[in-house]
Amino acid sequence: MCGIIGYIGNNNASPILLQSLKRMEYRGYDSAGIATINDNELIVRKDIGRIDQINEKIKFDAVKGKIGIAHTRWATHGTVTIENSHPHVSCNEEIALVHNGIIDNYMQLREELSTKHNFKSETDTEIIAHLIEEEYAKRKEPIETLKYVSDKLTGSFALVVIFKDHVNEIYGVRKYAPLIIGKGKKENFIASDIVSFIDYTDNVIFLEDKEIAKVTINSVKIINFDGKEIRRGVTHVAWEAADVSKEEFSHHTIKEIHEQNSTVNMALKQDKVGFNNFIKELTSGKNIFITGSGSSYHIALIFRNMLTRFAKISAQAFLSSEAEEYSELMDDNSILIPISQSGETADLLEAIRKVKNKGVKILSIYNTVGSSLSRMSDLSMNLNCGPEIGVAATKSFTAQLAIVYKIIFNLCQMENGDKKLEGLSSNIKEVLDIKKSLHQIIEVLNESNDVYFLGRSIHHPIALEGALKLKELAYIHAEGMAAGELKHGTLALVEEGTPAIIINPMDETYRDTISNAIEMKSRGAKIIGISSTNNEVYDYWIKIPEVDNSIYPIIEIIPLQLLAYFTAIRRKNNPDYPRNLAKSVTVK
Ligand code: AGP
Repeated sequence: MCGIIGYIGNNNASPILLQSLKRMEYRGYDSAGIATINDNELIVRKDIGRIDQINEKIKFDAVKGKIGIAHTRWATHGTVTIENSHPHVSCNEEIALVHNGIIDNYMQLREELSTKHNFKSETDTEIIAHLIEEEYAKRKEPIETLKYVSDKLTGSFALVVIFKDHVNEIYGVRKYAPLIIGKGKKENFIASDIVSFIDYTDNVIFLEDKEIAKVTINSVKIINFDGKEIRRGVTHVAWEAADVSKEEFSHHTIKEIHEQNSTVNMALKQDKVGFNNFIKELTSGKNIFITGSGSSYHIALIFRNMLTRFAKISAQAFLSSEAEEYSELMDDNSILIPISQSGETADLLEAIRKVKNKGVKILSIYNTVGSSLSRMSDLSMNLNCGPEIGVAATKSFTAQLAIVYKIIFNLCQMENGDKKLEGLSSNIKEVLDIKKSLHQIIEVLNESNDVYFLGRSIHHPIALEGALKLKELAYIHAEGMAAGELKHGTLALVEEGTPAIIINPMDETYRDTISNAIEMKSRGAKIIGISSTNNEVYDYWIKIPEVDNSIYPIIEIIPLQLLAYFTAIRRKNNPDYPRNLAKSVTVK
């Protein structure tokens, strides 16, 4: 996933574009670039590395011009080199563009263009610059050109394009990748992410797929690929710059971990009509399928577990990347519940596309307003947790879980369910304070190469989530597993000092999970118990408050998030920008 942005206004574009790139660095951070038009000259600066390093070196913000585009890259086609970074330009250096997405037919197009165009990079994006150049030379009209080129391209793309001889206009094209216009005062933005221009405006116009936007300093014109002009209103997203700044925290990740005692309450505030329609569909007797990737998949597992155990409703939960077999089972008597923070995960969107035309009802749970998922849903609930900048899912995970609780407690008419939900925030606040007692455990994890997370029943997905957090933040290999599987093989891996994090609240799983801890300890493992009650088998005890059994998952994940974060810090990793990862996996 890359970050793209265009600016046109009365100010010098480059400092604004630099700020936007920093806001979008969580989308991809291996290289970045900027292009502006000034005094009839197209100026391009780009390099590899983090944004601040690049700016140190090539002074992005010194570039002149009141119209410009910029890009922060997560490499897909082509390695991390200066040539492969964006913006890419036409041979005549009169057209520049930035791109987020994947062009599937770029090799064939490169072949067709190679007789007349020289390529400087290995990327799919550069092909688009030359294709636009080729067609613009015939038409001399940007929108007609972009319509024609968009029809030639297959795959997903969000483009922002500037033409040297159209110095008062920026153009955007959206097809299967997010693109949003930011409406400012005598300035406008067009970007892949609201976060990029949040310092300047939170009034936005969402582009739909197969639309082209022509943006000037004080106007926005939207045309679809059929040439029809589209009228679309401005949405006020009510995000503040504070939502995306670290404030007094050293990283977005720890800030977002600490926001959870309030974001769960925001998640519980759902529109009554929408919520009741969601419930009505869930109780319609249709077959229920739940899907997600990564952390969102772990929520899908918990959702399925709770539907079965508490609401006596059967459901299937599957990884979005493994949708094939499940799509065979879905028909117009099926409901699919995609769960996603970004609403842009390629596997998830593809899983929906596979079944949408079979009459499957799409009931989604997502965070990002205006995302592709939001457009593909029949019904949806928003996490309302604000932008999540840290690559690791933290507040979005507990917000998703809070919505699952709200649904389940409603379905099974849980006794004083509302009271339990109202208590979530204080439960989380209490457990956030345990960070002082984690130092010794962090040292144990820091010295380990393999860590095991064990949990039974509803705690098994939490074991998976804890392992994922440790892997993606601290770069330590970790395995989350069903505790009952221990003796079926994994026990063979336990050696002297192997850390085992046992998720073990005092509920119906307690006794059996304690015996697993004893089995591991007798073979030398170091036992870290996450429980409301201490036990002599624990070498280290992380105390969590005693709560209703159904609430434990949202409580026990907090220490695991903190352990992963502080172990990352101990290892001098940057938790906000884990190596090789991006916030949203928008390519398969
Ligand atoms: C979780 O910490 C990771 N960032 C990743 O597994 C993430 O949950 C997954 O890519 C799904 O993203 P989504 O919720 O935006 O669809």
